Amino acid sequence: MTDSSKSKLEGKKILIVDDDPELGKILSDRLVHGSHLPVVAETAKVAQQLISEKKFDLVISDIRMPGMSGIQLLHWIRTHCPSPVILISGFSDITGKSEANDLGAMAYLTKPFSYDELIKTIQSCFPQDPGTNPFSEDPDSSFFNIQIKDFIQNQKLQHDIYVRISENKYLKAYQSGDEFNLNLLSASSRLISNTFYVRKSDLQKYKEFNLIFANKIKQSITSNRYTKINFIKKTSDMVLQKLYTTNVPFDSFSQAKNLVISTINLLSESTYTLELLCNLANKSDFLYMHSISVSLYSVLIGIHSGWKSPPVLFNLSLGGLMHDVGKTTLPQELLDKHEQDMTPEEVIIYKTHSQKGFELLSEIKEIPRQVLQLVLEHHENCLGTGYPSKFKKTEISPLSRTMAVANEFCNLVIKNSNDRELSYREAILEMTSDENLEVFDEEALTGLSKLFGMSYSKRKKSA
Ligand SMILES: [Fe+2]
Repeated sequence: MTDSSKSKLEGKKILIVDDDPELGKILSDRLVHGSHLPVVAETAKVAQQLISEKKFDLVISDIRMPGMSGIQLLHWIRTHCPSPVILISGFSDITGKSEANDLGAMAYLTKPFSYDELIKTIQSCFPQDPGTNPFSEDPDSSFFNIQIKDFIQNQKLQHDIYVRISENKYLKAYQSGDEFNLNLLSASSRLISNTFYVRKSDLQKYKEFNLIFANKIKQSITSNRYTKINFIKKTSDMVLQKLYTTNVPFDSFSQAKNLVISTINLLSESTYTLELLCNLANKSDFLYMHSISVSLYSVLIGIHSGWKSPPVLFNLSLGGLMHDVGKTTLPQELLDKHEQDMTPEEVIIYKTHSQKGFELLSEIKEIPRQVLQLVLEHHENCLGTGYPSKFKKTEISPLSRTMAVANEFCNLVIKNSNDRELSYREAILEMTSDENLEVFDEEALTGLSKLFGMSYSKRKKSA
């Protein structure tokens, strides 16, 4: 923690509420300051007990928890103590923010978030800290300054907006009733340091305006192209940051990450493929994170298996992003289940997702044939027991065999809910065990092992 961050947190008693003990510990470790160790509660019930016993300056709570949710806890806190509350949400929970706004949540953190975001969000909860309060008051005027990022695109303004031309002198830049336009605002902001001003008397309208926005975010995601693109880019960046690991060579990671970003940018240019990306992201956080992970690791394994051709690596990247797009047509309750917990009928439905994804993408003429094949074959295996076609090894394309390895690897190291995630090493050992030797493609397993500096052939001989 930096000295300046330390001073902002000095003396603050923080309660962290998260049912994931590891995340709770990470947050606690990061927010230790002096002798002040944040308190961690693993359930909202425990948090209620702690809050009843002592005063906290800040509560940071996950939204999704078994039993009482973060929103329910926020509701209880608002009637029992004045502590500001930061809610941690997945980006698919974004619509819940309107309810949380109504209940008085101070701020949000969207998973995955960086340390800087965490600190900035916490700082925004303590208005006495100069320069960190989004409504910070200019002491010489009757105006509040507001950062450009706090304005909303394509909404009719409920109040006037001013620019500051000198001390105590303000010029009206936008009038109440004008439609807010980020492009115009961005152009202007280059001259005025990303800051606009609102009259103190309009502050309530400004806040209400943002509440209206929060209520409309979900609608915007489905109706506004600009918002969709921003949503996809922001969430993709967050996922890719989260996926960064020092266990793989930095150059390879950067190359793969840049390719995935370029692919997402390309998909964002077409209305239909942008819609598919949004559907993946809106279906569930995990599905979107898994899709980006498989894209990234397919490229990484491809690079370390000797694939050099840019079109081939692009196909891996695109195939990885789209491989599970067929799942967007399946009921969420089915996707929330482990395959071993599904009924035989449910398994049959679940296994249609590769065929459905293939059909969805076949309607887009720009999608390369090799990518359609990747989507269709990503659950085939070298034993010939996969689906939908039970292809033998030689019938499955080499790229599909590579992506099948990336898919399984990501399934082992990045889990949904509270399932234990394997370490990279554990996952590779499991995939290269005697039991699985005939399931996965040997070259792709070698590439995966190389990526993590492990020797697959040597272990195979000594096994
Ligand atoms: Fe799949």
